[in-house]
Amino acid sequence: MGSRISRRGCRVAVRRLRYAESYVRARLFGTDGITMSPLNHTAIVLGVTGGIAAFKSASVASLLVQAGSRVDVVMTESAQRFIQPLTFSAITHTPVHTNAFAPWTDEHSGHVSLARNADLLIVAPATAAAIARLALGLADDLLGLIALSTEAPIIVAPAMEDRMFNHPSVRDHLVTLAERGVIVVGPDHGRLASGAIGDGRMASPEAIVEAAATQLRRSSQLHGRKVVVTAGGTQEPLDPVRYIGNRSSGMMGYALAAAAMSAGATVTLISGPTTLRPPCGAEFVEVTTAVEMHREVERATFGADILIMAAAVADFRPETRSERKLKKQVDQEFMDVRLVRNPDILASIDRPDLLKIGFAAETEDLLANAKRKLEAKHLAIIVANDAELTIGASSSTATILTSEGDVTALPPMTKSSLAAKVIDVATTMLNRADRRP
Ligand SMILES: Cc1cc2nc3c(=O)[nH]c(=O)nc-3n(C[C@H](O)[C@H](O)[C@H](O)COP(=O)(O)O)c2cc1C
Repeated sequence: MGSRISRRGCRVAVRRLRYAESYVRARLFGTDGITMSPLNHTAIVLGVTGGIAAFKSASVASLLVQAGSRVDVVMTESAQRFIQPLTFSAITHTPVHTNAFAPWTDEHSGHVSLARNADLLIVAPATAAAIARLALGLADDLLGLIALSTEAPIIVAPAMEDRMFNHPSVRDHLVTLAERGVIVVGPDHGRLASGAIGDGRMASPEAIVEAAATQLRRSSQLHGRKVVVTAGGTQEPLDPVRYIGNRSSGMMGYALAAAAMSAGATVTLISGPTTLRPPCGAEFVEVTTAVEMHREVERATFGADILIMAAAVADFRPETRSERKLKKQVDQEFMDVRLVRNPDILASIDRPDLLKIGFAAETEDLLANAKRKLEAKHLAIIVANDAELTIGASSSTATILTSEGDVTALPPMTKSSLAAKVIDVATTMLNRADRRP
């Protein structure tokens, strides 16, 4: 049976679309007009790459301009086969950049000034080729040069046929970008250029511009604040080659450090051994044991606003560390290792002006244990999750409890999304505390 939309259905759909449009417009431009928008007076670089959805980027440019942004459009060679630069310059009233080797002047030094002046880089549509180039850090065109040179947050809106989008190579590159803090918007499920229905349709221009507004609002959330994050598991040595450790991957702490960075904070990341890359721009301190981590947290939290303890710190350490590799004796059946208590870092650091956030990874009585920990350690926030499901995994199903009595059970989400939520809650609490007399 073919799909048919009745006239009534059409009218309802159009009304819904108008409602959605006015809702998005109110969020982007504010009900009081343009000045309310976080996009007002911002500089956005809009990278347009060579996919069919390039024509929709004209709407992205137009919405950004209407919201008060200055938009510099950068087009790849392929993009210019799909849409003319003239369209964008007419919308943005700014020359379109198509050549990495255009002459430099006092006012314009190519990718360097575009990267430096940008508050945000949006790549929409992002082709499979562009996603690969961004993930690999290729600098062989103007867009790649800007992406490598800018400190601004980056949003990519993938657009391609679903077979391409589902290819492991594209997926892996998107994961790499997301791990580096790049915001991936869409793609949507729907009708593709080929006529097939599937994943790969570029997110709507409204959704892309709303993501831009959200990011810019977020970029200033923690401006001027200092955030200390711990991550990974500690290793407690038995001898020069053996240690007692745990399965923590560090992913949650690294995601929190990245989220705090994109919220505009100055971040110190104190990490046990992991295989992860620290986010660019964070002060990075590597430690091995709980005692070392304690010392570094004490140092770093001086003058800090937020401490987030996402590290899995060993509660006990071997009482002695053998200088030589321990050898088993002939006929030895048992080995006794006496453990001593490690410092409780979160409990021991108690400054009235420091907002403390802890994690409760438990295997039983999750919420009751989390609440007990929240109170005992004078935390503002505790993130409770199932230890077995969370440790080492890339996603998490968590509940956020606050000292103000809020309990928010979150659906399953990536650790990056959970990190952004935790930072949002912390910002709200910090701002509320500031307003108190
Ligand atoms: C008609 C046509 C449509 C295309 N649409 C897409 C697309 O939607 N997404 C995509 O990733 N590549 C698409 N491609 C392939 C890209 O244009 C090609 O990979 C190009 O090298 C991308 O260059 P760029 O990333 O530098 O812009 C399309 C190619 C053609 C000929």
